[in-house]
Amino acid sequence: GKTAVLMGGSSAEREVSLMSGTGVLNALKSQGVDAYAFDPAQRELAALKHEGFERVFIALHGRHGEDGTVQGALELLGIPYTGSGVMASAVAMDKVMTKRIWLAEGLPTPRYACLTPGEQTRERIRTVPDDLGLPLIVKPPHEGSSIGVTKVQGYSQMQEAVQLAAGYDPEVLCEEFIEGEEVTCPVLGEGVGAQALPVIRIVAPEGAYDYQNKYFTDDVHYLVPSGLPEAEEREIQRIVVQAYRTLGCRGWGRADLMVRASDRKPFLLEMNTSPGMTGHSLVPMSARAAGISYEQLCLHLLAGARL
Ligand code: DAL
Ligand code: MG
Repeated sequence: GKTAVLMGGSSAEREVSLMSGTGVLNALKSQGVDAYAFDPAQRELAALKHEGFERVFIALHGRHGEDGTVQGALELLGIPYTGSGVMASAVAMDKVMTKRIWLAEGLPTPRYACLTPGEQTRERIRTVPDDLGLPLIVKPPHEGSSIGVTKVQGYSQMQEAVQLAAGYDPEVLCEEFIEGEEVTCPVLGEGVGAQALPVIRIVAPEGAYDYQNKYFTDDVHYLVPSGLPEAEEREIQRIVVQAYRTLGCRGWGRADLMVRASDRKPFLLEMNTSPGMTGHSLVPMSARAAGISYEQLCLHLLAGARL
């Protein structure tokens, strides 16, 4: 039957989603799948039903794509879709909710403060570095691809960083900065069957793993195999699978982490439930290192589509 690849959408990551979706669409077509692009920003999702689509590959990122809303609409339409269901998608899209759940389960994630709109006063903002130290990270809890994120080096930068993040989200997440190495680790499957793919170590010029460098330059180096000691790699994979299962994810996901330089302890930053599939993206890179081609990965994810 017909397959729709959902791409584009209206989130701040629209441009990234179009790149992911185009890659997925071409891969599926090359494997003989009867697949078509479908942009929810341009058409009613209900058209999927009228036009006889039997399943959906979600290549949307961010709001109204990765956050459980599209998943809920597809549930109502009765069309099977790739990736996590409504609840896990909604929770993982919210970095604060995600941290609360991980902390309740004893999983390591950096210390944080969440500023509600009423708490974004000069007085309150000034106290954040006292608690979390400097530098610290300020971000909107519901964005991706580093959009709205600032690494704050001093008190004087706080106000501007909070204002930038508040332009994307009513609540603002302030997080302790973990000095160390940035790593990412994809997971495939569900429940007891969830399995981690190889860890990727990201080596970016100082502070520069940002939107531009994530997608449009070759200034970042990605190491896979990670070059980490085997015990460390295994420990990261163990924590990531636990983090994934705790959120109730299915299909696929990718956790981003920092490994603290001082004691090599890994800290979970977030779980992406609709990870990038662009030419620069990390899940395809890790899968390739595990012997899974981009085309095989797309077919595998599509085969797992369900309600
Ligand atoms: N949010 C982007 C798409 C990613 O995590 O890959
Ligand atoms: Mg993300």
